[in-house]
Amino acid sequence: MSSIVTNGAEDSVLSGTRFVRACLRKPVDRTPVWFLRQAGRYMQEYREVRKHHTLVEICKQPEIAAEVTITAAEKLGVDAAIIFADLLLPLEPMGLDFEFQAGEGPVVHKPVRTAADVLALRTDRAADLGYVARAIEKVAAHFRDRLGIIGFCGAPFTLASYMIEGGGSRNYIETKKLMYTDSIAWNGLLDKIVTVLTEYCRQQVQAGADVIQIFDSWVGALSLADYRDYAFEASKRLVRAVQDMGVPVIYFGVETAGLLTQMAETGADVIGLDWRQPLDEGWRAVGEHHAVQGNLDPITLFAPLEILEQRVKEILCAANGRPGHIFNLGHGIVPGTPVEHVQAVAKMVRDFRLEDVRG
Ligand code: CP3
Repeated sequence: MSSIVTNGAEDSVLSGTRFVRACLRKPVDRTPVWFLRQAGRYMQEYREVRKHHTLVEICKQPEIAAEVTITAAEKLGVDAAIIFADLLLPLEPMGLDFEFQAGEGPVVHKPVRTAADVLALRTDRAADLGYVARAIEKVAAHFRDRLGIIGFCGAPFTLASYMIEGGGSRNYIETKKLMYTDSIAWNGLLDKIVTVLTEYCRQQVQAGADVIQIFDSWVGALSLADYRDYAFEASKRLVRAVQDMGVPVIYFGVETAGLLTQMAETGADVIGLDWRQPLDEGWRAVGEHHAVQGNLDPITLFAPLEILEQRVKEILCAANGRPGHIFNLGHGIVPGTPVEHVQAVAKMVRDFRLEDVRG
C-alpha cells in the first residue's frame, strides 16, 4: 500500500484492509471513513424501501437488508459497510416482543421489572437471529475485500436499559432501581444478555463480519462509579469473547468523556468517541494502546461546506496521522441530513493529506 495510489478503483481495492488495519493501529495509506447510521431515513433509496417494508421486515429479509447496506456504502464511498439491523433484534428470541412506533421509537410490550421477569428470559434461541448472518454473507460476497464489513450488537447495559424501561428513557429510573436494589436480578440479566450476544456475534463473524461494533449508546447515563460497579464487567466479558473469535472490537458510547479510560479497560481494540470532546483529548483518555473512531457532530452535516470542511480537518489534524484513527461521526446521522454533505465529508477524508495542511 502506498500514497501513489490515487485512482478511485484501485483505492477501493484496499478499503476493507485499510479499515481493519486502522482498527489494529497498523499504518494505512489514508484515514478510513464510514458513518454511524449510514443507511437510514436521510437517504432517498432507504425511504423507497421503507414504503414497502417495516424496519423489522427489512432486517429479517437478508436480500433486502444486504441491498440497503450495500447501497448506502456505495453511494457514500466509504471504507466499511455496517450491516443493516437493529440493536433490539435479540430481545425477540429472549422472549420480549417489541415494535417501532412511528415517531416514538421502540416500545417493548412487557418490560423486565422483577427477578421473575429476568428468570423467564430465554437464552437458547439465538439461532433465530440467523437472518442477520445470512445478510452479512450476502454483503461479504458482494464486497469481498473491497470494504470492511461491520457486524454489531448492543452492549449489555444499553440492551438491559431498553428491556427494563421498555423504550428510550430520560432518567433511566427503572433501570437504576433494579441495578441498585437487586444485584442478583441485575447480574442475572446481564449474564443472559452476554450469553445471547456472544452467540449472535459468533454467527456474524462466521458469516464474514471483519469487525464487531458494540453500541453502548446510553452508557453516558451512568456515573463512573456506577459504570465500574454495574456495567463494566459484562461489557468486558462480551468484548473479550468477541476478540476470541479473531476479530477486532469497536466499543462506542455517547456522553462518555468521563468514562473513556474505564471503557478502554474492557480491552476493546477501538473506542468510539462522541463529538463533545476534541478527538486528541478523548484519545489521551483512552490511551495509546487503543485505536479511536470519531468524532464529528452529526448535526454539523447541516452546516455550509466550508464550516464542515474546517471541522473535518480539525479532527484529522487532532489525530495527527497516528495509526489507529477511523473517521466517523460522534453519533448517528439524523433524518433530514443532506446526503451530498455526507458524500462530501467522505471525499474530504479520502483526499486529506496531513502534509498539505502543514504546508
Ligand atoms: O446504517 C446503519 O447504521 C443502520 C443500521 C442500524 C439501525 N439501528 C437501523 C435503524 C443500526 C446500527 C442501529 C443501531 C441502533 N438501534 C442503536 C445504536 C446506535 C445509536 O444510535 O446509538 C440504537 C440505540 C437503536 C434502537 C433504535 N432503533 C431507536 C432508538 C430507533 C428509533 C430512532 C428514530 O429516529 O426513530 C430505531 C429505529 C431505526 N433503526 C431506524 C433505523 C434506520 C430508523 C427508523 C426507521 O427506518 O423506521
